[in-house]
Amino acid sequence: MPQYFDNDPITPSARERIEVDLGDVSFSMATDRGVFSHGRLDRGTRLLLTAAATPPSQGNLVDLGCGAGPIAITMALRSPSATVWAVDVNDRARQLCSENAAALGLDNITVAHPNEVDSTMRFDTIWSNPPIRIGKSALHDLLDVWLGRLEDTCSAWLVVQRHLGADSLGRWLESNGYLVRRRAGRSSFRLLEVQQRTPSSQISATDDS
Ligand SMILES: C[S@@+](CC[C@H](N)C(=O)[O-])C[C@H]1O[C@@H](n2cnc3c(N)ncnc32)[C@H](O)[C@@H]1O
Repeated sequence: MPQYFDNDPITPSARERIEVDLGDVSFSMATDRGVFSHGRLDRGTRLLLTAAATPPSQGNLVDLGCGAGPIAITMALRSPSATVWAVDVNDRARQLCSENAAALGLDNITVAHPNEVDSTMRFDTIWSNPPIRIGKSALHDLLDVWLGRLEDTCSAWLVVQRHLGADSLGRWLESNGYLVRRRAGRSSFRLLEVQQRTPSSQISATDDS
């Protein structure tokens, strides 16, 4: 059974354009079969894009698991002076994300396979609708690597479906030394703000949901 996180999807391509309107930014983008959320903006992704804090205006921002690129595109539009790293293991997703960025004239998005990103780079934020379906152990390894690349006091924003283990993921992050705040709990999704726990961690100790 092909999965959206396959490296090289075998499903025949069937592109479909969608309109994304988030209030402050709106854009049109192509989606495709074999790439997450064909023909629509995922509801969890929309929650992240409407409820996360404004991304840093400069620096290096990551969309971890970019798919067709709605998160990377939104960050690039909101932070035109920042560099957005759109990373994904799925070849078709990277190709589509590159084309979507180019069609919108966005030259501040770098699309890359995760292995192509210099492992010594540090990031000013990470936004992700993470690939929960790769399994708990692989997901934990993935998050450990990328959250470990956050600059001190910088936050990652993760959106996860409740029934796919948002709360247990939050507890796992806390037990692994991260500071986790539940920033929105609308519908069936949770939006988690995550920071490395350091003496200068800055996110407030109160959950919003
Ligand atoms: C839930 S989808 C989100 C896609 C897109 N950000 C969106 O919101 O529509 C998760 C994405 O993570 C990608 N992915 C899976 N394993 C990954 C890994 N090890 N590193 C980076 N991306 C990965 C999948 O290919 C998929 O595109």
